[in-house]
Amino acid sequence: EQSLAALGKAAGRDVGFAIDPVRLGDQEYARIAATQYDLVAAENVMKWETTEPDDGRFEFGPGDDVVRYAEATDKKVYGHNLVWHEALPAWVKSLDEDALRTAMEDHVRTQAAHWRGRVIAWDVVNEAFDDDGSRRGDSVFQQVLGDGYVEDAFRTARAADPDVDLCYNDYNLEWIGPKSDAVYAMVADFRARGVPIDCVGFQGHLPVGGVPGDLVENLERFAALGVDVRITELDVRVPTPASDGDLRRQADDFGAVFSACLEVERCRGVTTWGITDRYSWVPSVFPDEGAPLIWDAAYRPKPAFDAVVEAL
Ligand code: XIL
Repeated sequence: EQSLAALGKAAGRDVGFAIDPVRLGDQEYARIAATQYDLVAAENVMKWETTEPDDGRFEFGPGDDVVRYAEATDKKVYGHNLVWHEALPAWVKSLDEDALRTAMEDHVRTQAAHWRGRVIAWDVVNEAFDDDGSRRGDSVFQQVLGDGYVEDAFRTARAADPDVDLCYNDYNLEWIGPKSDAVYAMVADFRARGVPIDCVGFQGHLPVGGVPGDLVENLERFAALGVDVRITELDVRVPTPASDGDLRRQADDFGAVFSACLEVERCRGVTTWGITDRYSWVPSVFPDEGAPLIWDAAYRPKPAFDAVVEAL
């Protein structure tokens, strides 16, 4: 059997998956994780509601499990994430400006310091923009602290871990348009002013047929700012039940995304948002869509597997 991780390694690209450590008890899940991937991102257990459920009370146990698993199986850990408007415990949402700034800086500092030297990168800020390119209005950080919270989070992360790569991560960023233009402008500004930023994550939650034609061009323009790029959360959802035709189109899409990453020198790799259609966030969020990953619900490799092998 071919190994995506081995092919990726030969091509100088990480092949990652979003891990739910609870699923490692599932033998097939564990087997594919062990043989097919060389990077993990925690699907949920490094998010704020898990790591700091109460003010100043940190709970790193589940995240430590992910890191230990990665170290035992020779995989990199991509840190996801430090500051996001979702997966936030209620206490964060009731703070005044000074208290929220202190809480955010404390959270970033403590979490980045805890896994210092054991993660290769952090999504320091996740999803700060709306699709129209404006700052997201439904973020408590945006509402209470204003635009400057993003820069503050990056500076705080750098102080806590001087060596880790610091990334901005978002969705609907894969093509050139108002949202990616706004993020591009922010990254350019950060680079010009010496605000520490090393990488941009393009999530890649795509509908079948949705790989933009300008993906490479878009990745290249970010790379030209002096940052690495990465596809961080790839899944390609299809209407369910999935038809054979859609699964073939999905395979083309997976192949196109991996090929795009190989074409761009500063693209470090591709992470899929899970392993198997048995466990995916998609059906819970997109009604009547699903089956977005490389292995089906019975752990059989889908056409997407061959397409990724071909691309790598
Ligand atoms: C999702 C997880 O997959 C779900 O299990 C959870 O209920 C919600 O979050 N963008 C991100 C990820 O950055 O953290 C999200 O993960 C998917 C969208």
